[in-house]
Amino acid sequence: MAIKGLLLLVLIALASTVARSESDDPSGIDPPSDDDDDDDTDDGVGDDDSSLGKGFRRPFGRKDFPANFIFGTASSAYQISRVKFLTWKEMSRCRDGPDGVGCGIRHAVAWPAVEMDERLDGYPSSRVNEAGIRFYNNLIDELLSKGIEPYVTLFHWDLPQVLESDYKGFLNSRIVNDFRDYADLCFRKFGDRVKYWITVNEPWSFSTLGYAHGTFPPNRCSDRSKKDEDEDGVFLDSQKGQIGITLNTDWLEPFNERSKNDQAAAYRSIDFMFGWFMEPLHSGSYPDEMVKRVGKRLPTFSASESRMLIGSFDFIGLNYYTASYAADKHCLISARPSYLTDPCVNVSRVDRYNQGGNKPRDVIRRNYHRDHLKNLSLAIKRDDANVKGYFVWSFLDNFEWVEGYRVRFGIIYVNYEDGSLERLSKNSSNWFKKFLK
Ligand SMILES: *[C@@H]1O[C@H](CO)[C@@H](O)[C@H](O)[C@H]1NC(C)=O
Ligand SMILES: *[C@@H]1O[C@H](CO)[C@@H](O)[C@H](O)[C@H]1NC(C)=O
Ligand SMILES: *[C@@H]1O[C@H](CO)[C@@H](O)[C@H](O)[C@H]1NC(C)=O
Repeated sequence: MAIKGLLLLVLIALASTVARSESDDPSGIDPPSDDDDDDDTDDGVGDDDSSLGKGFRRPFGRKDFPANFIFGTASSAYQISRVKFLTWKEMSRCRDGPDGVGCGIRHAVAWPAVEMDERLDGYPSSRVNEAGIRFYNNLIDELLSKGIEPYVTLFHWDLPQVLESDYKGFLNSRIVNDFRDYADLCFRKFGDRVKYWITVNEPWSFSTLGYAHGTFPPNRCSDRSKKDEDEDGVFLDSQKGQIGITLNTDWLEPFNERSKNDQAAAYRSIDFMFGWFMEPLHSGSYPDEMVKRVGKRLPTFSASESRMLIGSFDFIGLNYYTASYAADKHCLISARPSYLTDPCVNVSRVDRYNQGGNKPRDVIRRNYHRDHLKNLSLAIKRDDANVKGYFVWSFLDNFEWVEGYRVRFGIIYVNYEDGSLERLSKNSSNWFKKFLK
């Protein structure tokens, strides 16, 4: 998988979220833990870690990153507000809870909120939901007035129900034109102020959890998880915006580091997770390993689609959750063909994720962010990684899809218990405040 051509890498860390394994429950979340009180006296800013080595400033802080490095937080429309979402209606029945409302730097526009849930003549203008547009106009204006740059995700998995009912949404290539019209609408309405656009959030999760495992909406367990990731099409030069995509991937280590087969299995897993979406953007076709193993079930790009895909991004967002071991596994000839069995890899977890505490007291999360940012700083300084920004997942405690409100990943606490939705600083947000000074 060649990604040398990447010029601008924006890295978005979903820092506190779930571990995944292909051979296990994809949510993989540990039960809430109260064990979050290690290192409780040290605020972590300016600590004297000798492993930092030469060239590290003390106290550790913003200055350890390039001058124009972007620090932000992230959220998604459905996870923080109850706009008119549709495909997720079914899901929220499972584990419901009160709403948290808020805004982050990386926030998403809910497609169903800005377009009416009807097919009307004169599309798209007559489908525009002016109340939804007003909501996002206010949000964007408010962010800018506070000096916060909005990075807007167009599709964070909430599809208007009408497109699902009409033609099965992303299983039909008609989605391409509808997505283009929707993106065009957002550019026209918000592009005078929004300069950073993310087309799709985690196409891997949307495709795999929604279509292969069937645990996320639209809850389909199909043999074929095709995803049209042909995006944007419309670029308004006059707005001078940048358009990227947010991918997610685990890191895979060979289970037996001396085994050539396990080494190949580790690369293959990354090809099936990251390469699936990154390679077409780079070379215009799927990774060789996927082509070889998936065969005729893998769609092909036409020559003109390939040309459109190659280099069609201004930045790449990367969400990462965990690392796992990969062992080569003999492919079962009799297995029902599926994305889940195609890679012929046995993936096992390194460890289970500790969600970092469910209270405003979240010292584990704070330490996690601190240690992680030190590693990130080293990657930039020592390894010349071209990383432009870091967005913490997440801004507020929010609705974690199938987990509902049981788990909290925010650096700001939201009081659901008494229904007040009061927000409180956690140890992690206090740490960030000092770190950013
Ligand atoms: C997959 O890995 C696990 C843990 O390393 C092991 O117990 C299991 O036998 C492996 N399964 C296959 C099919 O190789
Ligand atoms: C963490 O937060 C709790 C409760 O807000 C506070 O009492 C404690 O002093 C904080 N600890 C650190 C290390 O900041
Ligand atoms: C990098 O991350 C690891 C794992 O959290 C941590 O043990 C280590 O201290 C970090 N490195 C630095 C330089 O902080």
